[in-house]
Amino acid sequence: MSGGIPVYFDCDTGIDDTLALFYLLSRPNHDLVGVGCVSGNVDAAQAARNTLDLLALAGRPDVPVAVGEHDFLTAPYTQGPAHIHGVNGVGDVTLATSGEPVEQDAADLLIALSHQYEGALEVIAVGPLTNLAVAVARDPELASRVARVTIMGGAALAPGNLSPAAEANIGHDPEAAAAVFDAGWPVTMVGLDVTMHHRMTDAERQQLVAAGTPLQTTLAEILDTYFGFYDGILGVRECTLHDPLAVAVATGDAVPSLAPVVKVKVETGSGPARGATVADLRGMYRGHPPVEGARHTVVLTIDRPFGPDMLEALLALKPAS
Ligand code: BDR
Ligand code: CA
Repeated sequence: MSGGIPVYFDCDTGIDDTLALFYLLSRPNHDLVGVGCVSGNVDAAQAARNTLDLLALAGRPDVPVAVGEHDFLTAPYTQGPAHIHGVNGVGDVTLATSGEPVEQDAADLLIALSHQYEGALEVIAVGPLTNLAVAVARDPELASRVARVTIMGGAALAPGNLSPAAEANIGHDPEAAAAVFDAGWPVTMVGLDVTMHHRMTDAERQQLVAAGTPLQTTLAEILDTYFGFYDGILGVRECTLHDPLAVAVATGDAVPSLAPVVKVKVETGSGPARGATVADLRGMYRGHPPVEGARHTVVLTIDRPFGPDMLEALLALKPAS
């Protein structure tokens, strides 16, 4: 596994982060060269524990995993949403413990990889953006060495999920998100506008159960908690594919049908709009003409359903031998 497009993946693993990690591992043209973990769904240390154990389960214990920021830039991390991801982040399924994080923290790992793969490194971030913001502050030249940043986060036209205005990854650390959008690198935002519409159905989850293999059975168990939560939100036993959809956009496997390149600002005030991603979509009435100086691609629609692709990737996963 080398010679493909190098990817640094930043996550708060997390059930949909688990799906995203596995989807990324399944992409033949991309190489996962490092993972940084951040607090969000669980704390950064637990996210790293989960990531290491999942990588081992999928036969990729070679991927370096770094623990990142425990606290957000202006607020301490307190606890994750156990009702969504389980107390341990992976639906309270016990995974075999395997491997240790690298000594560097996530920001230093990202900086090191940006030198190693200068101009080619793709960054995909599917948790709060604290690690990326710390890396940019530590090395202001970082942005110039990275090819693109793709995030799962934000909501341009859709309602938030952490608050009426804020999507969770942005809302947990709005100052970090603002720093990442303002850093000067191209950012693709895959937010709730699209991720709420791409789902895995219970019938698809049952196919993982039917596969009967240990890896797929474990995944189906992990997903059970997530389905339980989303049943209450969606009124149907399905789950949204937030984080893996961002990966699929970054790898080119999910092709947006509408994704204007505009300017996005993050609200960092203390009012009810804190954590909102304010995308300047005023060009919509003229078919989104080019905006000078704009570097933020806001994915608004993806027509092809992603659920079947997600399932196919999970079914094809081979356990560690
Ligand atoms: C995002 O928040 C987290 O709970 C999920 O893992 C995803 O990254 C969705 O708003
Ligand atoms: Ca996540």
